[in-house]
Amino acid sequence: MQDLGIRFVRIGEFAWSRLEPEPGQHEFGWLRRVLDLAAERNLSVVLGTPTATPPKWLVDRMPDMLAVDAEGRPKRFGSRRHYCFSHAGYRAEAIRIVTSLAEEFGGHPAIAAWQTDNEYGCHDTILSYSEAARAAFRQWLKEKYSTIDQLNKRWGNVFWSMEYRSFEEIDLPNLTVTEANPAHRLDFRRFSSDQVRSFNRLQVDIIRHLSPGRTILHNFMGGFLDFDHFNLAADLDAASWDSYPLGFLTLLNVPDDHKLKYLRAGDPDFVAFHHDLYRGCGRGRWWVMEQQPGPVNWAAYNPSPNPGMVRFWTHEAIAHGAEVVSYFRWRQAPFAQEQMHAGLNLPDGQPDIGREEVRQVLAELAGLPQGESRQGDVALVYDYEAAWALEIQPQGDAFRYFDIVWLFYRSLRRLGFNIDVVSQTAKLDGYKLAVIPTLPILQPGFVEALKAFAGPTLVGPRTGSKTADFQIPANLPPGPLQELLPLRVVRVESLVPFMPVDLSWRDRDFHCQFWLEHIQGEAEPWIRLPDGRGIAFTYSAITYLAAVPDQKLLDAIVEDIASRIGLRTNPLPEGVRARHRGGLRYFFNYNPGAVSLPVAADTKFVVGARDLQVAGVAITEDAGA
Ligand code: GAL
Repeated sequence: MQDLGIRFVRIGEFAWSRLEPEPGQHEFGWLRRVLDLAAERNLSVVLGTPTATPPKWLVDRMPDMLAVDAEGRPKRFGSRRHYCFSHAGYRAEAIRIVTSLAEEFGGHPAIAAWQTDNEYGCHDTILSYSEAARAAFRQWLKEKYSTIDQLNKRWGNVFWSMEYRSFEEIDLPNLTVTEANPAHRLDFRRFSSDQVRSFNRLQVDIIRHLSPGRTILHNFMGGFLDFDHFNLAADLDAASWDSYPLGFLTLLNVPDDHKLKYLRAGDPDFVAFHHDLYRGCGRGRWWVMEQQPGPVNWAAYNPSPNPGMVRFWTHEAIAHGAEVVSYFRWRQAPFAQEQMHAGLNLPDGQPDIGREEVRQVLAELAGLPQGESRQGDVALVYDYEAAWALEIQPQGDAFRYFDIVWLFYRSLRRLGFNIDVVSQTAKLDGYKLAVIPTLPILQPGFVEALKAFAGPTLVGPRTGSKTADFQIPANLPPGPLQELLPLRVVRVESLVPFMPVDLSWRDRDFHCQFWLEHIQGEAEPWIRLPDGRGIAFTYSAITYLAAVPDQKLLDAIVEDIASRIGLRTNPLPEGVRARHRGGLRYFFNYNPGAVSLPVAADTKFVVGARDLQVAGVAITEDAGA
């Protein structure tokens, strides 16, 4: 590792059975030897807490610590993440092992950072329908509503005689005959998210106290919405995430020809979206904790990346401001579940392809200035509660939160913007454009921030369509947004995927998909359906879309809004993406073939050249910086 130029190594994240082979009997000698060796070789260690893998003896001592699925079945020992976040006994055990570790190693000179647990929520483990969760949920509800009358009123429990006489009567919202009350379900999602945060917080408090000055992180995932990451990350020093571009591509809801085209490179926007998201979660500080190094094992099909992709993905993370890029894993494990998952080295310890690419990228990085990541041009508002609300009541199967957000992100990125993915609590000052793909529940503070924001705002359908109690707003959707936008949504319909609604605008043909709203109000539409109904309304600086446009129409809408305010766009060739960092502009060719970059003749290249090969990266001096 030292010879290759590696500086950080993460270890220990699943090591509980070796750290405490028998209850209360700690074996720390092996870990101390590793840490001493790391210090000798100038390697900084990220030590993982092992709470994602409670050992067998612990599970046998308190079998009710296992999480329970929605069908009421416990999730058994034999893989990982087999615990319920609400179980008080397991929380006490987590505190105990983290305290012992931090007492033992908190001051060790090799330790630069800590990773709490591992991938909260991986393998669908946020929601647990256990006894422990039920008791904790009742308590959470009591604190939120104070009286049962309040809860009955705000949930609307008079409907279908669902009224409760006390908090003790309330169950978890699973195993009901048909759907449970959406307000009940939304509160259960909020509660479950809060449980993850408080579980993490227990560990953070211990580590902060016993290992001061070290960076505390967690490794988040891609495309994962089951808890509020902004919220949890507020307790950390930095965010990190695990980037598996080819594995993710197989899971995405995109056509097969798209998957075929990007099979060996990954989707051109998926990874970048998460870089921008986790930079936001980490308040500017973020890492890639696990970078795909070759074929993985867990997708339905596991292709090999194009030669050069490990270098490419590393440069792209740095372009988005990553502090550290770490690869999973150093050496392919010859045994157990992940034996088919590549590493930088083969199972026999000989170098695999990725290892030489790491050498190359490290040499290139050594010659590059690492400028500041400046504030983005565009703020894209991302919201976990929105995802839960839309999942609980989709009203049309194709209306999926992540797909909608991503459609907007793609348009913005194809036009060459730097994008910051932000929460509803972010400050909008300094952005040239704010984009809200869809946001059913608006927080009062966010409506005020929108009023104060000077730039244009693009708002997607269903925004402001629910109150915080999961009810239709008294003034109809878009609810509080009517303070800024004089229109009302009087009917909604979901569109079946095989029946898009066609329209033409400025002599080009487009269509709308998924969703269509009928609008009443003062604002005049500037894009209409053939029957005259409006789908784009602008009032003052705010534009509301009453449908989900196809990608081409959304590109055209964003370009139109940008041109109205004189904001320069830099449309990129298909499959090419760019980002500014410091005084540099980076270009990435995701295509399976070569492309030529649309840059001025006198552009100065620091890495690469105008013609980009497959897996090509070019870095230029940034004239506009
Ligand atoms: C991540 C996880 C790692 C490993 C890896 C395989 O989800 O954090 O432990 O399982 O995926 O790609």
